[in-house]
Amino acid sequence: MYWSLTGFALIQFIPVDRTNKPVKKSENFVDIYRTPSDVRALLKTACYDCHSNETEYPGYAYVAPVSWSIKDHVNSGREHLNFSEWGTFNADLKKNMLENSIADIQQNRMPLAGYIAQHPGARLSAADQKLLIDYFSEIMKKQQN
Ligand code: HEC
Repeated sequence: MYWSLTGFALIQFIPVDRTNKPVKKSENFVDIYRTPSDVRALLKTACYDCHSNETEYPGYAYVAPVSWSIKDHVNSGREHLNFSEWGTFNADLKKNMLENSIADIQQNRMPLAGYIAQHPGARLSAADQKLLIDYFSEIMKKQQN
């Protein structure tokens, strides 16, 4: 017991980098497409904590080892899809990410269930899902021209 408490105290000193890279308007998804505010708000609450450089870390994200697991999700989420760096992706990658986003929302795979448990506001209603899916489809059509 003593040692596990000490260990718990000690791992708090292992640094976790929670600084967000600055977001360039010229590369940011919602700025590039002038995304309407209702869709923008949904993306922000349901996707941006893991798929952008605008992550807002909750209080519990500062307690190791939870902080490591959260940072891990953020890193891995950003690797797969980063709305803040959208302008840097080529046409194939953009199409791929839009297709996968649509499929993931349809199958209730995104946002991750564990995230919804901590952020009830991120649970998408059927109407929210439709709004996002329709919006992503519209962008996909624009990409093709
Ligand atoms: C709690 C963090 C978190 C949130 C919130 C989140 N994601 Fe993800 N996402 C991840 C992680 C981690 C991965 C990579 C591992 C995986 O696929 O499960 C991922 C992967 C993806 C992928 C690529 C995987 C694939 O299907 O090929 C897409 C697309 C995606 N997310 C879209 C979204 C969208 C759209 C939202 C909002 C509606 C969202 N995500 C919300 C963490 C998150």
